[in-house]
Amino acid sequence: MIKKWWHDKVAYQIYPKSFYDSNGDGIGDIPGIISKLDYLKELGVDILWLSPCYRSPLADQGYDISDYYSIDPRFGTMADMERLIAEAKKRDMYILMDLVVNHCSDEHEWFRKACEDPDGKYGHYFYLRDKKEGELPTNWRSYFGGPVWDDLPGTDKQYLHVFHKKQPDLNWENPELREEVYKNINWWLDKGLGGFRIDAIINIKKALPLRSYPADRDDGLCSMQAMLKEAAGIGTFLSELRDRTFKRYDAFTVGEVFNEKPGELPDFIGDNGYFSSMFDFNETIFGHSEKGWYDASPITPEDYKNCCFASQEKAGNIGFLSNIIENHDEPRGVSRYIPESDRCDKSKKLLAALNFMLRGLPFIYQGQELGMENLPISSIDEVDDISARDEYRVALDAGLSEEAALKALSHEVFWPCITFKSRDNARTPVQWDDSPQAGFTTGTPWIAVNPNYREINAKAETADPDSVFHYYKKLIALRKAYPVIVYGRYEPLLEDNEELFVYTRTLEKEKLLVVCSFCDHETHFAIPAEFAGAACLISNRNRTYTDTELTLEPYEAFVLYHQVK
Ligand code: GLC
Ligand code: CA
Repeated sequence: MIKKWWHDKVAYQIYPKSFYDSNGDGIGDIPGIISKLDYLKELGVDILWLSPCYRSPLADQGYDISDYYSIDPRFGTMADMERLIAEAKKRDMYILMDLVVNHCSDEHEWFRKACEDPDGKYGHYFYLRDKKEGELPTNWRSYFGGPVWDDLPGTDKQYLHVFHKKQPDLNWENPELREEVYKNINWWLDKGLGGFRIDAIINIKKALPLRSYPADRDDGLCSMQAMLKEAAGIGTFLSELRDRTFKRYDAFTVGEVFNEKPGELPDFIGDNGYFSSMFDFNETIFGHSEKGWYDASPITPEDYKNCCFASQEKAGNIGFLSNIIENHDEPRGVSRYIPESDRCDKSKKLLAALNFMLRGLPFIYQGQELGMENLPISSIDEVDDISARDEYRVALDAGLSEEAALKALSHEVFWPCITFKSRDNARTPVQWDDSPQAGFTTGTPWIAVNPNYREINAKAETADPDSVFHYYKKLIALRKAYPVIVYGRYEPLLEDNEELFVYTRTLEKEKLLVVCSFCDHETHFAIPAEFAGAACLISNRNRTYTDTELTLEPYEAFVLYHQVK
């Protein structure tokens, strides 16, 4: 593996709308991010990925861009963005923007021109088909529900949107469109960006000619997976994209790739891969059901461990996956993977340690470093997320009562307050302190603050050396101090043990032993002879590990290090 500048870095995802509001309008903004750079620097993170803050009608919270060359006024100005890049640079930090080019917004000028003249230049920027009464061009189901086709306003045509109807798909088969995309990427890289997180990228390649597949639900539609399985040749687009843009700048890129085909990993993240890295979603997609979210199975600690280990095996020495516990599309990891009755600082630290010590690039999602939790709700009316609202409807259509649908879409139930599997969970404002609205805004926040902000907040945690925040800070510092954490070969131990999550990392003479007791009762663990007397780098239980026969507390986690003589 060729060494790269980002290998030893730690990344942090900012969801601008909910990070910090500088002007009291209830919406987080870029000046707000700038004012918190010192906090992020103290935590130790290097790469900041900003979810979209381009001009957008916010139909899908900014993942629907109406102008790739401007900042939405709700988030600030271009001057603010330039200042953010410069201020980050002063602190040796890098800014990544979100690259959303599978689709744009239906309010983008290209789409408006396509409506005016569907047979002209801009008509070819999209997938348009003649409208036929009572028949759709294909029967694909959009990720957000319903058919992927809608009428192209003012014409006798329909357009394709694999996400929301306000997110028309861009036609990557058209070289003119691709040129527009490259021009925009290079324009941003010239401003000094460190790179991009690349949205929904697998969808840019459609199986041609577009056709229908067997229906998989009563709605007569089929999952997008049917078409994607058949789509071949994305590599041609992705290598061109890399060569024309990222590669020229040595930019860091991380792809949102859900389903590369077996054997394709080296093409994606190998030495000359399309991307520097891609997210490991193995745990987040576990238990998924084709029927909908309501039918998904919950994940156990053992499943969790198997998912992590499988990804580690898969990536091997090919390249670095990016490891996440949560992001803006997922519930909070501590609420999803740790049972309600056991959720405490110790178990949150366990989840942090076992992820951070894996091979790959750690990505922290805003508030994760504070142990932020899911948002309790009592009715669907409190949910903003378009995706969760659609999945609720899918559950009702499948015959569930309203109460049953709410429960089925919740990972654990503490009726009447439930934490519903909604993208809102991670989108509630960052909890800065215990003042009203968690110090996020002086106005009314666009989405409710989690009521637990009086206990869980940055002010309290930065002041408490035993907090989840300080634990993350220490994990980050360790990654920078020990190359074995970055480059060490991974090897699982006790693979069949349902309670203990144990692995080693080895880099020449350096060795690391990671031991996590992922269960709610005491367990026995014998330290392997070669680690007898090894130094403890971190523990969530401030104890020493001088004995080799240990009784571990529930959720105890520690890391030992030694150098072979
Ligand atoms: C990605 C984003 C998600 C968005 C979708 C469409 O999955 O993470 O938030 O809704 O793409 O752009
Ligand atoms: Ca604001």
